Amino acid sequence: MNLYQKMQTLLDDRKSIGQLRSIVSKKQIGNYIYIDREKYLNLSSNDYLGLASDTKLTEEFLSTVSPKTIRLSSSGSPLLTGAQESYAKAQSKIEQLFSKKALFFNSGFAANSGVIAALATKDTLILADKLAHASIINGMQNAQGKALRFAHNDYEHLEKLITQYYEEYDQIIVVTEAIFSMDGDKCDLEKIVAIKKRFDKVYLYVDEAHSFGLYNDNGAGLCASLGYVKDVDFILTTFGKALGSQGAALICNEVAREYFINVTRELIFSTALSPLSFEHNAFMLDYVQKCQDRRQRLNKICEYLHQEITEAGLLNMSCSQIIPLLTFTNEKALLAYEFFKQRKIYAMPIRHPTVPKGRARLRLSITASLSDLQVEEISSAIKALKLD
Ligand SMILES: Cc1ncc(COP(=O)(O)O)c(C=O)c1O
Repeated sequence: MNLYQKMQTLLDDRKSIGQLRSIVSKKQIGNYIYIDREKYLNLSSNDYLGLASDTKLTEEFLSTVSPKTIRLSSSGSPLLTGAQESYAKAQSKIEQLFSKKALFFNSGFAANSGVIAALATKDTLILADKLAHASIINGMQNAQGKALRFAHNDYEHLEKLITQYYEEYDQIIVVTEAIFSMDGDKCDLEKIVAIKKRFDKVYLYVDEAHSFGLYNDNGAGLCASLGYVKDVDFILTTFGKALGSQGAALICNEVAREYFINVTRELIFSTALSPLSFEHNAFMLDYVQKCQDRRQRLNKICEYLHQEITEAGLLNMSCSQIIPLLTFTNEKALLAYEFFKQRKIYAMPIRHPTVPKGRARLRLSITASLSDLQVEEISSAIKALKLD
């Protein structure tokens, strides 16, 4: 078999078990998405505050920039020409928000993958939650030391691993997501910080991809809302979700920032996002702090839907805007997807191997911009869904 025949075999295998992935371009307007000219309520985007779909806000931003002053390409790595004026402007906004240093990456994936690999030297043990995102796993796969996973949100297991390996490693980095991307549940930061305080060698890394913009009065995230920004060594914020922009920033101290600039391959050897993107980051970092109404609206919708799910007799693991309807099998996840689609709602089926076997689900991603009527449409689809 030649290379292409081997590729085709893998694709055929995936197709035969219903796991073939594909990219289909889709028009999106407001809360709707268009597929084959049909209009669906969009529950598959991470635009949690409705900022990306807000055309007025986009117009407002575009009125602040001009081709004479802004470039559409950074034309180089941040170490070369990539960090221009708008880079510095966005940096100072996010550093003010956290009162800590910040380092930009082109995406959350690049940040997690690069930073965790950079932290994972021979004398370091990485301990990540079992449900950690693929980008975290990517970083762990490049570890020079040991990288293990503790059972999901199981801090007894975490402590057991810390104790077991304590003498073998100089430092132990505990990695968790604040809000988990697939289950929509929360880590227990209070417990994790308490563990860190008991063990000198333990450092914390919290991925706030799905909580940045949503928690704390100013949207700074879960660590900020609980007063733990100082205790958490590394906080990852991503800009392509609630912030309605793109890119990511690692929040850390000054020495760590300088270290990552010098060793993280994803940053050193990649063209920075465009100055236009950083200008947009800066604009949105200001705007998101004033979005209390949107945050409250999102909370209200989610509380209501969580209640409806429980009343419908479905298992609800979520405490957030990510609401998985567990179907258990891949086949039923596809059936649920079709059922919602018939009702003109577009929500993605998430199947094994993206989630553990037997944990397939329909993933509803809720946004603050939903109207009451749209929320009712979702609620009645949930109630009408039959999984037996
Ligand atoms: C928990 C988590 N971390 C990191 C990422 C990657 O962020 P980005 O989409 O900016 O690459 C994602 C993406 O969905 C995520 O869910």
